[in-house]
Amino acid sequence: MKRMAIFASGNGSNFEALVNAYRDGKLQAEPVLCVTDKPGAGVVERSTRLGVPLLLLTPSHFASKREFELYILRYLEEYDVDFICLAGYMRLVGPTLLEAFPRSIINIHPSLLPAYKGRDAIRQAFDAGEKTFGVTVHFVDENLDSGEIIAQDSFTFDGDDFDALEAKVHQVEHKLFPEAINKVIKEL
Ligand code: GRF
Repeated sequence: MKRMAIFASGNGSNFEALVNAYRDGKLQAEPVLCVTDKPGAGVVERSTRLGVPLLLLTPSHFASKREFELYILRYLEEYDVDFICLAGYMRLVGPTLLEAFPRSIINIHPSLLPAYKGRDAIRQAFDAGEKTFGVTVHFVDENLDSGEIIAQDSFTFDGDDFDALEAKVHQVEHKLFPEAINKVIKEL
């Protein structure tokens, strides 16, 4: 069984969905470590409740991004992590982690990439008047929301209730992320 670390900076609903998928036998990789850069993030409560070890870091306490990532790397080695999933991790991954985990870092993004990269992607698409929305899971490279696409799922939404749209996007994410990981697991 492959071992994965999940990096998250926010609410952590995708983190919880991955842990549940593993525990329900629907994900062929074990979440062994949660890494967060946000002490107040929802993912802190979720990892505590679910009993997944948590590495909680304050990036400003490190002299550089390289020092920050080298520190994380020590824990990834200690936990024998095979690959990393970014689930709402709001930082660009630097060369230290990219070189240590070649083609082994995966991100989920709430748009049909390459459209609507960056923050607030659902809002960007909604404000642009889109009627087709979706989610992308992709390998991570040095650029923002770039890298080879592993899987996408889309749906039509024609309402004006942004909260309902956001809920639908998250629902699609929670299903697509474990499926996409299972798809590439042998390569990782
Ligand atoms: C998700 O929409 C994900 O696609 C994006 O950040 C959001 C994280 O949501 N990268 P959550 O913290 O998993 O609830």
